[in-house]
This record gives sequence, C-alpha cells and structure tokens, in this order.
Amino acid sequence: MAGVVILLLQMLSFMFITVVLLLAGMAVVYQCWVWPVGANQRLKKNGFSGPPPVFPLGNIKEMIKNRPRKTMKGTLNDESSEYLSLNISHDIHSTVFPFFSQWRQRYGKVFVYWLGTEPFLYIGDPEFLNQVASGVVSKAWGKPTVFKRDWKSLFGTGLNMTEGEDWARHRHIIAPAFSPKNLKGMMSIMLDSTNQMLDKWSRLVGTNRAEINVERSLTCNAADIIAKTSFGTSDLQHRQKVTEKLQAIQLMLFQSKRMVGVPFNKYIHPLKTLESRKLGKEIDDLILAIIISRKTGGRSTSRPAGNDLLSLLMAENEKNGGVGKKLTDRELVDECKTFFFGGVETTALAVSWTLLLLAQHPDWQKRLGEEIKEVTGGQSLDFNMLPKLEKRAIHRSEASAVASYM
Ligand code: HEM
Repeated sequence: MAGVVILLLQMLSFMFITVVLLLAGMAVVYQCWVWPVGANQRLKKNGFSGPPPVFPLGNIKEMIKNRPRKTMKGTLNDESSEYLSLNISHDIHSTVFPFFSQWRQRYGKVFVYWLGTEPFLYIGDPEFLNQVASGVVSKAWGKPTVFKRDWKSLFGTGLNMTEGEDWARHRHIIAPAFSPKNLKGMMSIMLDSTNQMLDKWSRLVGTNRAEINVERSLTCNAADIIAKTSFGTSDLQHRQKVTEKLQAIQLMLFQSKRMVGVPFNKYIHPLKTLESRKLGKEIDDLILAIIISRKTGGRSTSRPAGNDLLSLLMAENEKNGGVGKKLTDRELVDECKTFFFGGVETTALAVSWTLLLLAQHPDWQKRLGEEIKEVTGGQSLDFNMLPKLEKRAIHRSEASAVASYM
C-alpha cells in the first residue's frame, strides 16, 4: 500500500513539474514569439512600416553594424578614448544615429524599429506627435515596459517611468520644486561648481600640457551640480558617496544592458546584473538614510530647510498636513535618482555639443562673447541677466537649420 502511495506521489510530482515547465515554456514562446509577431502584423495593418526585425535581436544587429564610425584614435591620457570623425556637421541626427537616418530615408518620418522583441515607434514628425499626444487617454503615454524593467535600478518608479494617475501625482509634487524662484536659489551652486572647473582648465592651459577632456569635465561638473542641488551642499562625504555610486551603476548598466529588449538579456552579464542590483540597493539605502534623517531632524545629512530638490519635495509632501497627493519615501528616493540620471548626461552633452560647434565657428564665439560682456559688464553672470542674452536667438535660428535636416 505504502509503495502505491509513494508511486502515486511520484507520478503527481512528475506531472506537476511537467505542467509547470510546459506553462513556463508557453509563456516564453508567447512573450518572445507570438506577441511580437502579432504586434508586428497589427502595426503593419495600421500602416506602420520599418526595418524587418530578426529574432531574437530585432534590429539591434543593423544598429551595431551602422553605428557612428570612430575614425580617429584618441590622443588623450585615457588610451581607450576614441573620437568620432572630425567632419562634424549640424546634422547631429545622422552623425550620432546613422541607422535612424538611413531608416528614415527608407520608411519616412514615422516608422517602427525593434530592440529585441520590443517594438519602438520612431517619430520625426512633430505634427504626428501632436496628434498622438492629444489622443492619449488618462496620461497613458505608452512608456516602454522594457525600460521600466531594465533600468529599474536607475529610475525605479521615478517620473519618467510612471504613467496615468501616478505620473500626475508625481508631477503635482515635483513641478513646484522647479519654479523659477527655486531655480534662482540654486544658481550660486551652479556658478561655483562651473567656476571651479574653469579655473582648473585655466591652470591646465597655463602648463603647456593643455589637453583637456572637455566632455568628461562637463559630465563631472554636471554630476556635482545635480548632487548639490538635489541633496544640499552640506555633508560632502555622504553626497560624494551617493554620487560615486550613482555614476558607477550608470556605467555598469550601460555596459551590461546594451541588448535592451532581447529576451533573457539579464543572463548575458549575470555578474554585472547582480552587482548592479547590489549597488542599486546601496544607493537606495544611502538616499533613504538622508530622507529619514531629515524627517527626524538628525545631524548634518538631515539639515532640513535648504532649497535643495529633496527638501523642496519633502516640504511639498508635507503641505496640507501631509494629507492628499504625496510621494512615499521609496518614491522620493526614485525621484532623486531620476534627477541625477535625467539631468547629468543630458546637460553635459548639450553643453559639449554647443562648445564643439562654437569651437568650429569662431564668428559665433565672438558674437556671443561680445554680448555676454555687454550684459554682464564684466561681472559674473546672475539669474536676472539670463533673459537679456538675446543672441541665444542665434541658437534658435541655427536650431531651425538643424531641425530642417530632421
Ligand atoms: C539639456 C538638458 C536636458 C535634455 C535634453 C532633457 C531631455 C528630456 C527628454 C527628451 C525627456 C522626455 C523623456 C521621456 O518622456 O521619455 C525628459 C524628461 C525628464 N527630464 Fe529631462 N532633459 C534635460 C535636463 C534635465 C534636468 C537637468 C533634469 C533634472 C534635474 C531633468 C529631469 C527630467 C525628468 C524628471 C523628466 C521626466 C518628466 C516627465 O515625465 O514628466 N532633465 N528630459
């Protein structure tokens, strides 16, 4: 009798394992094959064309094949640095994204391309974007789930990953922090950091070893500014620790998550995936410690007041006695990370590109230089002077020239 029971139990467990494996296999086939094929057919039926995807990479192989060509070996101290061809034009789009440029010529200003098994809509037509955006119901923007999953340790549930009511609640708390009055209060931090960087450049230029990695300096400067404007200028050590870890995790994820959208991509670099999770947890704990410390009125990290972004968000959270739309501590952590990752590379690259173009066009440099002198009278720049810098109009007219390429 006991033997029969054991046999039955064995059969049942075998059946159970088989069913679980079968279901898991079906889920994988659905996710990696059935859904993408169906989605591609639906997109085609609705008039969206694009480069044909090839399983499992989608169009990533073509993107790698046609990526920007590096034609000049770097000469800076960093031996690994390489540069794009110096034949730089205003056509930043086809310089940086040659594959998009080629597809655009072939498929038009709106087309679908695939990262792994995830479809993405490329929109190069502002009118189309306007129409789509006005038809979006309940703020469901359709942000790619693959980014929400793959970049979780970077952004968590920060503003750029949320949708619908959650997005509206986050915006409600965050928008006031970026008011002109608050930004004005942060300007001295921005000026101090940038002046320190410029002083360093001047010293380097004076040494005859004037090789400066401008892009890297600007990225460090942007990171310094965002860290100070996010967490305040007190407690250098704590801030530096957070900044270093944020930069480390960003680098790690960019290196290990190149295969965005490819099924099981997290197993391509399992160690890096584990390491980035660990690092993500450490960052969360560090930022959470600042929040808790501020809430409980603790030591230096806690210094409540101040007009840093975290203080402003926490103050907004406490409005109306903390009742109503609020961010949880976890969401506050994610927003701090979002400011960092959303604000560092973007601003650093925009300034790098501007400086590069100015270096190529000494006439613009001269005109801007003259205007800055005229507006500032040789004093350092302040917030009220910014609207008087009208030659930014040069950028606007040049921007329309750039836009005409797109
Ligand atoms: C030149 C500089 C910048 C550029 C080109 C830029 C570009 C963008 C773009 C294209 C988006 C839309 C992303 C999407 O919805 O998928 C975005 C959103 C966002 N950016 Fe920036 N950004 C810049 C600077 C900054 C800075 C300095 C911060 C913060 C300190 C920041 C924080 C954010 C946030 C929080 C969002 C999400 C907004 C929302 O979904 O409502 N950005 N940015």
